[in-house]
Amino acid sequence: MKKLVFLTGAGISAESGITTFRDSGGLWEQYPVEAVASIQGYYRDPALVIQFYNERRRQLKSVEPNKAHQLVAALEKNYDVCVVTQNVDNLHERAGSHRIIHLHGELIKATSTENPNDPSQVVTLADDEDIHIGDKAKDGSQLRPFIVWFGEAVPMIEPAAEAVSEADIVVVIGTSLNVYPAAGLLGYARRDADIYLIDPSPNNVPGYLPVHIIAKKATEGMQELYDKLTCKG
Ligand code: APR
Repeated sequence: MKKLVFLTGAGISAESGITTFRDSGGLWEQYPVEAVASIQGYYRDPALVIQFYNERRRQLKSVEPNKAHQLVAALEKNYDVCVVTQNVDNLHERAGSHRIIHLHGELIKATSTENPNDPSQVVTLADDEDIHIGDKAKDGSQLRPFIVWFGEAVPMIEPAAEAVSEADIVVVIGTSLNVYPAAGLLGYARRDADIYLIDPSPNNVPGYLPVHIIAKKATEGMQELYDKLTCKG
């Protein structure tokens, strides 16, 4: 089976009702990213940051995967699929994708403040479970969101780069390609790989790569690409 790697960002979840970060009205217009999504912000005000992610986690109960997530999962019938996502929601899982690399963490998980990347410290929260100040991880330190904040390492970047380097087809969906190292993953694509990008407002597309741009929303663009990749279109 040919290897198909998706690189997804907030735009694939936009049609599920989850706001993106940098579009107008995006999350970073409502919250100062430094205060709620950086390691400095967490140490400055852990209660504020914990509450911010409690609210984003609660939202997961009121949203559903959309057609784009579902078509990504459906392509597992025809391809060896790996989803590399910057998203911390669980919509790819809920749509049925099996191999998912979360570069920036997961809202439904929590970890240790002292040893955030120690797998033995990572726990899965119940759907409606909040983190509170005073909740302890297994190592006795404050339980924190299992999120990769600005200023922290991205432990999953190596397996993600390896997946992209082995891909026959790479599909970028709904990311502004603003944030590194995730935005640099396209550079690992083989020169003979087919690269597609689905985004109604494509930006930061590397000029040195032959990218087939589908300037559409994720649900429409994924339908077009699904039909092409399964020889229906
Ligand atoms: N379908 C497809 N793409 C869309 C849609 C849609 N319906 N709506 C918006 N987009 C596109 C926008 O044009 C933009 O290119 O999705 C992208 C969203 O970009 P960002 O808001 O910057 O989100 P993302 O690229 O995922 O951000 C990367 O930044 O703040 C950090 O950790 C956070 O993982 C996040 C990272």
